[in-house]
Amino acid sequence: MKLFLDTASIDEIREINRWGVLSGVTTNPSLVAKEGQDPDIVWKEILETVDGDISLETTFTEPEAMYEEGLKLAEKAPNAVVKVPMIPAGLEAGKRLTANGIRINVTLVFSPAQAILAAEIGAYIVSPFLGRLDDVASDGMAMLRDICEIYAVQGYQTNVLAASLRHPMHVVDAALAGADIATMPYDVFTKLVKHPLTDAGLEKFLADWNKLETELKGEA
Ligand code: G3P
Repeated sequence: MKLFLDTASIDEIREINRWGVLSGVTTNPSLVAKEGQDPDIVWKEILETVDGDISLETTFTEPEAMYEEGLKLAEKAPNAVVKVPMIPAGLEAGKRLTANGIRINVTLVFSPAQAILAAEIGAYIVSPFLGRLDDVASDGMAMLRDICEIYAVQGYQTNVLAASLRHPMHVVDAALAGADIATMPYDVFTKLVKHPLTDAGLEKFLADWNKLETELKGEA
């Protein structure tokens, strides 16, 4: 399972990218707006920094305008993936974009039925939102498992991207479910590496090493 960052912050992206585990970035209008800068500058920096798929989201709700915007977003770089929302206009514009060889990510997916539609228009990525479904007392992980099973049974090639992940166990369970990609905020990404026994173990190793060095220096 590939790991993506769900952010438009170049500082967060640069830091995680140094770990060597970052395969892509997902952005959305809210995340870009949070940066308070010209979106073209924000996207350009991300597209140039990460060697992987970068999702850039359309902001129009009419199919023609969404299609035209999608064409422009796709032209920004070879690693750009165009995000369209799971609405009829998104299906219409998305189908036209895929017909033009543009890779699309169908976003705001909350049900297996919607995921079937995304696969049928030949989407490159489908983004089921787990955390937001959990927020309304539904089972986001059950939805993800169903989508992964349906795609396997039907032989759909669309990549399943588990989105709206809120904690490390969401990431682990998404991997178990068979998701192709997990996207997560910086906070969740940094929690993946943490374990108290790792910190305690390292502290003891280094304390023992320093003690030995002190002893050897005393003997010299
Ligand atoms: O970017 C799409 C999705 O991951 C949003 O997550 O945390 O805003 O529900 P969240």
